[in-house]
Amino acid sequence: MELRLALIGFGGVNQGLFELLLSKKDELRKYGIDTKITAVTDLRLGTVTNPSGISTDALRASIQAGLSAIPLQADPGTSVTPDSDLDATLKLIASDFVDVVVEATFTDPQTGEPALSHCRTALESSKHVITTNKGPIALAQQELVSIANRNGVFLKYEGTVMSGTPVLRQISTTLRGCEVTGFSGILNGTSNFVLGEVAAGKTFDSAIQEAQVLGYAEANPAADLEGSDVQLKVMIMANALWGAGLCRDDVPCRGITGLTESEIRRAITEGGAWRLVGSARRSSDGTIVASVEPKELPAGHPLLAATGVTNAISFDTDVLGLVTVTGPGAGRVETAFAILSDLIDIGEKVIAGATEAAA
Ligand code: HSE
Repeated sequence: MELRLALIGFGGVNQGLFELLLSKKDELRKYGIDTKITAVTDLRLGTVTNPSGISTDALRASIQAGLSAIPLQADPGTSVTPDSDLDATLKLIASDFVDVVVEATFTDPQTGEPALSHCRTALESSKHVITTNKGPIALAQQELVSIANRNGVFLKYEGTVMSGTPVLRQISTTLRGCEVTGFSGILNGTSNFVLGEVAAGKTFDSAIQEAQVLGYAEANPAADLEGSDVQLKVMIMANALWGAGLCRDDVPCRGITGLTESEIRRAITEGGAWRLVGSARRSSDGTIVASVEPKELPAGHPLLAATGVTNAISFDTDVLGLVTVTGPGAGRVETAFAILSDLIDIGEKVIAGATEAAA
């Protein structure tokens, strides 16, 4: 089956997806899935559409120069507009040549916008949605899931918590049957990278600059350092695990900027290390306690396995005890991989639904 994709936001993540779709074409075919990019829109770069599919060669050639570059204009059937605004984007999302909307714009932790409007319009227009954007999922997961269910489409957001490292799909597949009573994790690559670099002797400022250059940090790195990025991820996890309906006020949050460079270096000499830890726990009466705070972890603690930009999350389960998942938590291709895995999941479900309907 063919899935026609609209890429909303064409920064590192969706450019990474574009590359992955080319290199993983044969892999996708193993699952019976073919993809075609029919729309790309970005507030800075403009909009390109072609209902028959945008030529990948032209798109590749124009990425370096911005989307309105000549290779795309010369591509038959392709329409290029130099600008993009919310109304135009919403209209594009609802187009009949789009099956899956891939939302990878910046995260606004206060309102979730404009991503929330992108997701809502897509689901209301019966398009499947894949997003790596924490805003809409943390702030409006239940509303969006119910719109998706009402319209018979899927909402997938694996990349919102640990980029390509599977955590949400772990709890919805392989951990089913276990009761998860709590989790704690290193859920922000930038702050973890900065803590490691400072421990190794760098200043806070130069470590932050390096994280920005490497593409780990949010557009506003304060979200990484002050903890609001982890706060959103804790909300997403708690809501996915327990339907908790947590809002930001339910997750007290303190970042790493209150730590001193000497404090961070001292912990290393004593065998432990500071980490920014996001956690939540559900008691037997259903009460949920969640927080984001820096913690000095002792030598041998399982979360110390997460160094650099690596993330880790430990689930407390009734049957298995502690289950820890470690892997990349940021990066353009790593996050794009989460979209690819969501795409396979949607493709398989759509194919299974079509087979069932035909039987
Ligand atoms: N800025 C985030 C991080 C990206 O550093 O973890 C992934 O959410």
